[in-house]
Amino acid sequence: MKRAKIIGTGAYAPKRILTNADLEKMVETNDAWIQQRSGIRERHIVDESEATSDLALNAARQALERANLVPEDIDFIVVGTTTPDMFFPSVGNIVQHRLGCRRVGSVDLLAACAGSIYSLNIGAKFIETGKYKRVLCIGAEALSRITDFTDRGTCVLLADAAGAAVLEASEDGSGIIDADLYSDGQYADLLIMPGGGARHPATRETVDARMHYAKMKGSEVFKVAVRMFVDCVETILARHGLGPDDIDLFIPHQANLRIIEAAAKRVGLPMAKVFVNVDRYGNTGAASVYVALEEALAAGRVKKGDTILMAAFGGGFAWGAALMQW
Ligand code: UT7
Repeated sequence: MKRAKIIGTGAYAPKRILTNADLEKMVETNDAWIQQRSGIRERHIVDESEATSDLALNAARQALERANLVPEDIDFIVVGTTTPDMFFPSVGNIVQHRLGCRRVGSVDLLAACAGSIYSLNIGAKFIETGKYKRVLCIGAEALSRITDFTDRGTCVLLADAAGAAVLEASEDGSGIIDADLYSDGQYADLLIMPGGGARHPATRETVDARMHYAKMKGSEVFKVAVRMFVDCVETILARHGLGPDDIDLFIPHQANLRIIEAAAKRVGLPMAKVFVNVDRYGNTGAASVYVALEEALAAGRVKKGDTILMAAFGGGFAWGAALMQW
């Protein structure tokens, strides 16, 4: 079985920037609190005309260009998203058509902020089994569309972006070495958008009760998140007989700088080996690891042969880690 290898990455964030100063005018908060508690300075959010598939499309085009491929080369599309344009058709369907792909399979998967690791790993399986030659993996979110801009506990964190990676079979042993996916639904209520689905379909009452927004018990999420980050990272490293010294770069889900720092410290990874861009993007859910990977590559932080560790967690809870040799 050949490994799946990333041959092109892309990232896109909407032009509109929301700074902490902007948020000060919307809710009872301040720049110092936001920076101190989350590490976020600014984030990108969609304007009225944009939706998740628009962001996904831009990231996908860039990833194809970097991979030196055309849309007809893609055999399958998998999109991690919590905020599809609509219930159906899927973002994958929309991207397949708008990108100009053949009539290939496409699917959305919902693993909240772990949608990056989930989509990458699921895409990789199709390559590893030899079923498809090239898979387009995308993480895309317009989280601002489900953000309650009167709730200071969430609106300072959530944001919009998309990232993409094209996978192909590796000929030289590089690529995705291993990945683990986990979930535990006992934490469902800690981070949830309760309205709009089959349990609470949209009615005037659900709208009045603000049930179509993400609700979060932040400090509880924080504690579990650090534990899960550490667990999944230690498990995958141990399975391969690796320690923190063997990792060249750790690319974690960008939810909160303090979560990243706490997890890195417990795992024994110095921050010099951790890629952080949460300051400029906020929490972009399923997009975050893809966007961070693209920025890490652009910044020259990833070199041929490097051992890269990625991990993400999010609502559900769903979480996971992936180990790669670049
Ligand atoms: O991708 C996964 C999704 N989510 C996450 O990873 C988020 C995980 N959680 C967090 O990032 C943090 O818990 C937060 C950034 C949400 C909050 O930080 P915290 O250090 O856990 O603060 P806290 O919730 O314990 O709140 C401390 C205080 C509270 O006031 P009192 O009760 O001490 O008077 C909050 O009401 O800070 C208050 N507060 C705020 N103050 C100013 C909460 N949000 C804000 C705000 N601005 N935006």
